[in-house]
Formats: sequence, structure tokens, C-alpha cells
Amino acid sequence: MDVKEYLAKASSYYDKVGEENFKKLIDDFYDSLSSDPLLRDMYPEDLEPAKERLFLFIIQYFGGPQTYSERRGHPRLRARHVHFPVTEEARKHWIGHMAYALEQNPMDDESKEFLMGYFDHTARFLKNR
Ligand code: HEM
Repeated sequence: MDVKEYLAKASSYYDKVGEENFKKLIDDFYDSLSSDPLLRDMYPEDLEPAKERLFLFIIQYFGGPQTYSERRGHPRLRARHVHFPVTEEARKHWIGHMAYALEQNPMDDESKEFLMGYFDHTARFLKNR
């Protein structure tokens, strides 16, 4: 699969998975993260706005409305993470919470696998310490 085919495939998951399941995924991810001492302190005290940013980013990436870019502009994910110590340990914790949230989700297994492939790849790319 070349980049173009990959992106076209990625854009199909918003319809396949459905917005409600994406919402539940991000809610469950933050619920799990909120009791993780390693990660919790990196995030703002009020998690709701952070939850909304990740939710909007993820649905946009997977073919949903472009609200994230309307509000935040280009994602510049690496630049936006440089202030946070994304160590190997932090990456593993982040992915662990996402794996847990995917496990709780009613979406089909193929979608879970595709989404995890994306999260895993991106989390490695964001490592900065
Ligand atoms: C590898 C471990 C990671 C750590 C420790 C981490 C940490 C953080 C922190 C502390 C924030 C600030 C929260 C906020 O106020 O919005 C943030 C924002 C964000 N993260 Fe991560 N993150 C990680 C991985 C990822 C991955 C894999 C993605 C995408 C798949 C991602 C996407 C985002 C987005 C979209 C934002 C909001 C950017 C904005 O518009 O300001 N992060 N991250």
C-alpha cells in the first residue's frame, strides 16, 4: 500500500467505526490515563478540553469532519509534544491506555487493528527524549 492508498483507507474508518465508538474510545482512554501518575501530570488539570482536542483530531484523521483543523490549524504533532517528556516509558503507558480503551470498544477487530497500527506508529514518531 502506498501513502495515498493508506490515507484513503484511513479515511474510511469514520463511517465504518462510527462517531459514537470514537467518542467512547477517547473517553475510555482518558479515564484510564487519569489515574496514571506518570502521564497525568503532563496533562492539564481539566482533562475535558484535552479530550475534545484528541477526539476531534482522531475523527478528522479517520475521515470525519475537519473541525480539528478549523480550530487548531495544522496539527504539528511533533512540535506540540516537544514540551512533554515523551520517553520510551511514557510511550508505553500511552499505548497501554489506548490498548485498554480499544479492548473495551464494540468496534470490529479489523478496525481495532488498523487504529492500533496508527497509534503505535505515531507514538514512536512522537518520542522526543
Ligand atoms: C507517546 C505518548 C504521548 C504522550 C506522553 C502525549 C502527551 C500529550 C500531552 C501531555 C498533550 C497535551 C494535552 C492537551 O492539552 O491537549 C497532548 C496533546 C495531544 N496529543 Fe499527545 N501524547 C502522546 C501520544 C500521542 C499520539 C500517539 C497522538 C495521535 C495519535 C497524540 C495526539 C495528540 C493531540 C492531537 C493533541 C492535542 C494537540 C493540540 O491541538 O494542542 N498524542 N499529548
